[in-house]
Amino acid sequence: MKLIDGIKEKARRLNRRIVLPESTEERTLRAADRIIVEELARVILIGNREELLKQAHDLKLDNIGKAEIVDPVKHSKKDLYVDMMVDIRKNKGLTREEALKLIENPLYLSVLMIKNGDADGEVAGAANATGDVLRPAFQYVKTKPGISVVSGAFIMIHPDKSFGNDGVMVFADCAVHPDPTEKELAEIAVATARTAQSILGMEPRVAMLSFSTRGSAKHEMVDKVVNATKMAREMAPDIEIDGELQADAALIETIGKRKAPGSTIAGRANVLVFPSLDAGNIAYKLVQRLGNTEAVGPILQGMAAPINDLSRGCSVDDIVSLVAITATQSAQATKQTVF
Ligand code: ACO
Repeated sequence: MKLIDGIKEKARRLNRRIVLPESTEERTLRAADRIIVEELARVILIGNREELLKQAHDLKLDNIGKAEIVDPVKHSKKDLYVDMMVDIRKNKGLTREEALKLIENPLYLSVLMIKNGDADGEVAGAANATGDVLRPAFQYVKTKPGISVVSGAFIMIHPDKSFGNDGVMVFADCAVHPDPTEKELAEIAVATARTAQSILGMEPRVAMLSFSTRGSAKHEMVDKVVNATKMAREMAPDIEIDGELQADAALIETIGKRKAPGSTIAGRANVLVFPSLDAGNIAYKLVQRLGNTEAVGPILQGMAAPINDLSRGCSVDDIVSLVAITATQSAQATKQTVF
């Protein structure tokens, strides 16, 4: 709880413009009202102004009128955004007619606003599947320079404070890229370490996880993690990264010492990088459900601007927290190159 409060405080100081394209979705509208009251960000909503204000009135939300409201059908920058879309997707053969239709979709309009500097970040996914939120972002906002892959990290807040930093760890990729190559896995490791630094102020100690520790098993899946570890160290020599490590060797000091003697990470890891989305997604859900652990995210990393995807089962609190995180990431995006 304290951790999220700190992130909210940072967001408040930054005063960023965050667009919530699913504005007519009830939890999103409630969250927008809270964000405005708590002054966590300047909220941009997409929709018909009168309809949104009527819905807000019915829900007894008094602050929605303070948001910037952009009508997806009629607004002053529609032609500009359509020109941008046709230009960005000219190699994919996007026609003006197709772009004119797409720009009325709030998920496309939001990413074009970000691309044109009219918004600093986006939070969506309460009403749309992951792929529908991510595809427009991949196509128009794209990845940061030097990064080829977007991934999703979770901040895991475990009640046992002996793990990570006072119980806080970062897990990735738990949300986006099903089967990364060695290089992509290395990028995910570095991006996750940067997320831990920028959002949590953590000194990252990154464990590249496998079913093998220091050559205890031989398999091409192990080789992938070994090679990714080497690449990640070359990409970010300033970050402590070790692998391949099994999860117990990464987290438990006595086991780490036995299985990976001399490792500065084993038994002390606070960033866990999984070899595939299968492993990462299953692991975070098991730790969350069986380990009585709060899971905050997914926080998308590697995108040129902060765009975050909610679970469709999210609560109003989840949306508010993710908006604060997105605002914090956007400060980082404007000054950082990740590698
Ligand atoms: N990083 C950067 N760009 C990407 C990535 C990525 N990880 N994945 C795809 N792209 C780009 C492609 O290069 C392509 O760009 P282009 O059109 O300019 O050529 C564009 O995005 C679309 O690519 P597709 O291969 O058509 O991507 P698709 O839309 O089929 O799939 C998606 C992308 C939706 C992210 C897919 O990888 C996916 O479904 N991932 C799993 C998501 C998921 O279900 N997660 C678990 C649930 S979330 C949770 O539990 C918290």
